[in-house]
Amino acid sequence: MLKVEELSKNYGDFVAVDRISFSAGKGVVFGLLGPNGAGKSTAINCISGLLQPTSGRAFVAGHDTVAESKAARQKLGVVPQELALYEDLSAVENLRYWGKAYGLRGDALDARVAEVLEHIGLADRAKDLPKEFSGGMKRRLNFGCGVVHKPPVILLDEPTVGVDPQSRARLFDLVEAERDAGACILYTTHYMEEAERLCDSLAIIDHGKIIAQGTVDELRAKLGARDVLQLSGSFPPDATRHAMEALSNNGNHDLEFVSQEQQSITLTLSNASQHLPAIFEAVSVAGGNVSETSLRSPNLETLFLLLTGKELRE
Ligand SMILES: Nc1ncnc2c1ncn2[C@@H]1O[C@H](COP(=O)(O)OP(=O)(O)OP(=O)(O)O)[C@@H](O)[C@H]1O
Ligand SMILES: [Mg+2]
Repeated sequence: MLKVEELSKNYGDFVAVDRISFSAGKGVVFGLLGPNGAGKSTAINCISGLLQPTSGRAFVAGHDTVAESKAARQKLGVVPQELALYEDLSAVENLRYWGKAYGLRGDALDARVAEVLEHIGLADRAKDLPKEFSGGMKRRLNFGCGVVHKPPVILLDEPTVGVDPQSRARLFDLVEAERDAGACILYTTHYMEEAERLCDSLAIIDHGKIIAQGTVDELRAKLGARDVLQLSGSFPPDATRHAMEALSNNGNHDLEFVSQEQQSITLTLSNASQHLPAIFEAVSVAGGNVSETSLRSPNLETLFLLLTGKELRE
């Protein structure tokens, strides 16, 4: 239903999206997980036709988004990161506007708008203006506007940013309902919990490039069962590295020295908590000291940390 082939977008000399490829079928949520500025919105805007790709192609329900842009657009529902609501139109009028824009008329329009209002939990606020709504209610209405014409492919760009936990849960339900009804959904986020919870498969994107791709389980398997251990303190560079490598050779076979910052080091290893005393001892012998320890079990966030050396959320 959705296919992206070697898609790139440059802004002048700056490469915002760098030859990304992925595909997703019916009834699937595909995630694009990456930090601020990774290129998620740029990718979505290329697929939706808002931006012209610099190179590469995208297909929506088999239609090339450039060569057959009109046919592709008919099959698409877009829920943009920036709210696309008319503040001087009521909730129901916003939905009717988008329904009409996609060719719905008469009874079909009335019925679908009523259904969506119910679905997004705003039936009792139908006549109110979005400016009187909370952030979560606006997000829900934004979502409704994107799906009012029952598109088979839906692009959701960070739909939960700035919403309270209750609205977030409600938005998850909405996404899952569209998926269960057979839609193919592209979901961008910088929250790994959302990606883990919602996405059947996903691509991790950073600086415009896909740096890992697969199902959540496949991506977790890349880490193996290793924990990620970050130590803060002071660490003489070479001596610390050598000490860790020596430890690794002397029994902690899967200990890996990932990176060293000015006042921290990052390691991965299995059952890290059992090996903490030996690690502290080795740091001390190397002339360093540990002031703080952070131990995390493997998840998409730690995978991102290992792949890029930085946190997903700055
Ligand atoms: N019109 C533009 N002109 C020049 N650079 C741009 C333009 N739009 C975006 N960029 C740059 O392209 C990169 C990708 O931006 P994009 O908005 O796609 O990221 P994002 O992953 O959606 O981030 P966020 O999570 O903050 O929404 C950023 O470095 C951004 O500064
Ligand atoms: Mg964005």
